[in-house]
Amino acid sequence: MLSKKLIDAINDQIQFEYYSAFIYKAMQAYFEDEDLPGMANWMDIQFQEEMSHAEKLFQFVCETGGRVLLQSMETPHNDYNSPLHIFEEALRHEQIVTAKINDLMDLAQQEKNHAAQIFLQWFVTEQIEEEANANHIIAKLKRVKEDGRGLMMIDQELAKRVFVPIA
Ligand code: FEO
Repeated sequence: MLSKKLIDAINDQIQFEYYSAFIYKAMQAYFEDEDLPGMANWMDIQFQEEMSHAEKLFQFVCETGGRVLLQSMETPHNDYNSPLHIFEEALRHEQIVTAKINDLMDLAQQEKNHAAQIFLQWFVTEQIEEEANANHIIAKLKRVKEDGRGLMMIDQELAKRVFVPIA
């Protein structure tokens, strides 16, 4: 049902989703160390989301008769200057994910693989939300700048985020 080229490309995306989870876990560690539990929670939820993205792709390859091949990951970045810096890095990372999902969709379209296109549509839509989430937090962080109380309020807001499993 999937060409070798498409299976290879989805396997690469599985690797990148796991790597994304790894990056967000490293970001969580930074916030835990900075005593910003709300932001740490937000990153932990993001970690769980990325794991679920990888799982969704994993199951798709299996269900369509392909073979999942896991790949190694490089060490994630562990040092950041500020909450703003970290969320800007998160946005930059999501923009890379979006480009990779778009490339996958382009490949599915070139191959006229309708099942893959329908499946990937979920990821195309998800990336709109992923970028918007990071953008909203960046906008708030820029507004409060160095104000400690403002930062605490954002932290409390991000503490409320919960993981919602993919339907
Ligand atoms: Fe799985 Fe944040 O994209």
